[in-house]
Amino acid sequence: MAQEFTILGLESSCDDTGAAVVRGAPGAAQVVSSVVEGQAALHADFGGVVPEIAARAHAERMDVVVARALDQAGVGLGDIDAVAVTAGPGLIGGVMSGVMCAKGIAAGAGLPLVGVNHLAGHALTPRLTDGVAYPFLMLLVSGGHCQFLLVRGVEDFTRLGGTIDDAPGEAFDKTARLLALSQPGGPSVEREALNGDAKRLRFPRPLLDRPGCDLSFSGLKTALLRARDELMVDGTLKVQDRSDLCAGFQQAVVDVLVEKTRRALAIYLAENPAAPTLAVAGGVAANTAIRAGLETVSAEMGVGFMAPPLRLCTDNGAMIAYAGLERFAAGQVDGMTLAARPRWPLDQGAAGMLGGGRKGPKA
Ligand code: KG4
Ligand code: ZN
Repeated sequence: MAQEFTILGLESSCDDTGAAVVRGAPGAAQVVSSVVEGQAALHADFGGVVPEIAARAHAERMDVVVARALDQAGVGLGDIDAVAVTAGPGLIGGVMSGVMCAKGIAAGAGLPLVGVNHLAGHALTPRLTDGVAYPFLMLLVSGGHCQFLLVRGVEDFTRLGGTIDDAPGEAFDKTARLLALSQPGGPSVEREALNGDAKRLRFPRPLLDRPGCDLSFSGLKTALLRARDELMVDGTLKVQDRSDLCAGFQQAVVDVLVEKTRRALAIYLAENPAAPTLAVAGGVAANTAIRAGLETVSAEMGVGFMAPPLRLCTDNGAMIAYAGLERFAAGQVDGMTLAARPRWPLDQGAAGMLGGGRKGPKA
């Protein structure tokens, strides 16, 4: 039987302060405790995450969140084998808060320190929840990320494509703002779309005419703005028009994600994986229409589909603890020189991604 480890994981790259204890071996681990403290209320008045406010809140709350995670797990630092922490990519002040806290714990308790790439945390989550075997295909879709990753090992990622501008969650949030719906935009646009006719208004399907797996969502937002202005009478929008706008927009996102997934799956299947699996992570994976589209295309191509429970799909400490566990089990540790990195592409060989989103860098 593989050796088991107990890992404490810290996450602070955006607007969630997370700490968790994970125990087990690679591909066979359990979440013993996971505490996430969101900062939504702190940023609510600003229409987005304010990096300075986020960093201060992480610095103030991380030790409390860690203490709660240890307490809920019923363990002390003496029971921990290593401390894992998000070292990037993300908002630099928040990442530094987490790294400093982890260094303090590691130095104080004499524990090894393991730096984790936040995206690796998301990408390896299906191994934590379901022990999914390498290689698998991961579609990461959230407010800050959108990329296809071919995951072959704990440090072996190939990015098959990603957004060249906005992340899909950002597009849902902007759509909600343009239509005076509540934030976060994803759930409110999805609800509104239920009463709408997806075929009435025509939205573009960006980048479908080009080969490859890259995606683009910023044009959809512009199309929505134009369509809204054409439908508005004296500055007001009929309820049915708003629903039709939501339905048309959502269908465009579904169509683009499904077609790009089909292409990414074809590349992945060329490797002849023994148990082909498509996994999704990120808040946008909560969308029923998107999920249904991905399930259908997976089934068509003979690939298993899985989505971790939402609390492990969105930012949390357990995914960092688990990715740290895989690195630690492979004998990889970092020293006190571990640096916080605002940008840190998982696939070092791939060309860098453009821009930094409202919720932090997308690379
Ligand atoms: O992964 P997440 O919680 O945070 C980060 O982006 O890091 O994702 C949040 C994003 C938001 O943009 C939100 O609007 C979107 O996920 N989202 C959805 C749905 N639920 C959340 N988008 C579409 N449909 C949903 N049901
Ligand atoms: Zn994330």
